[in-house]
Amino acid sequence: MMPKTPPPVITIDGPGGSGKGTVSRILAKKLGWHFLDSGSLYRLVGLAAQRHAIALDNEPALETLAAHLDVQFDTDEELQIRVVLEGEEVTDALRSEECGNDASRVAALPAVRFALLDRQRAFLEPPGLVADGRDMGTVVFPDAQLKVFLTASAEERAARRHKQLKDKGLDVNLGNLLKEIAERDVRDSTRSFAPMRAADDAIVVDTTGIGIDAVVQRLMDLWRGVSS
Ligand code: DC
Repeated sequence: MMPKTPPPVITIDGPGGSGKGTVSRILAKKLGWHFLDSGSLYRLVGLAAQRHAIALDNEPALETLAAHLDVQFDTDEELQIRVVLEGEEVTDALRSEECGNDASRVAALPAVRFALLDRQRAFLEPPGLVADGRDMGTVVFPDAQLKVFLTASAEERAARRHKQLKDKGLDVNLGNLLKEIAERDVRDSTRSFAPMRAADDAIVVDTTGIGIDAVVQRLMDLWRGVSS
């Protein structure tokens, strides 16, 4: 019997604020595929750690937490995801800057990353998957048909994040945001295990000064080129 061909995967890696979350979601919707927001898994581990008073450098305890995360994702037609952790809705709590920073810290621990691998790969189901993260193309889905690395200048990423938070009614200092983004970039790209980087066969797309629609169009064109 012929081995079953796995469904196609498009990986979209890159730093926070590069637009990859929005772009990945729109792309998945256009293609009618599943969507993996892998950052939310690291955010969940950070949040669960805070709630269980586990220190963010206690690798064995965090590994157990990651392996047994009691989480439910409810996805609507827009691929907006409602997240329930241990019976409590945490959708908004997950998006805070504090949660992102905690996620970046627990994500530096190899045991945590290993513990989340199968959970991430389980998202790969027909008809296909768009996977958003830092190591989707390098570690989690190395055989992806299309790998994209989205970037944008740190200044533009901070400005985008600032606008998002302002739209939510949150008043955050732009200078502090820029500093945090730069710190997180360094931590995510210099960790020894699965650092954020473009896969050798990834196509790098710089989104500085480019609107979401144009980026989505570029990725759709890239996918048509690969799949035809
Ligand atoms: O994409 P995000 O901001 O939700 O990710 C939060 C943190 O999680 C990010 O700073 C690094 C980490 N992360 C990771 O290490 N690997 C991934 N595949 C996704 C996120």
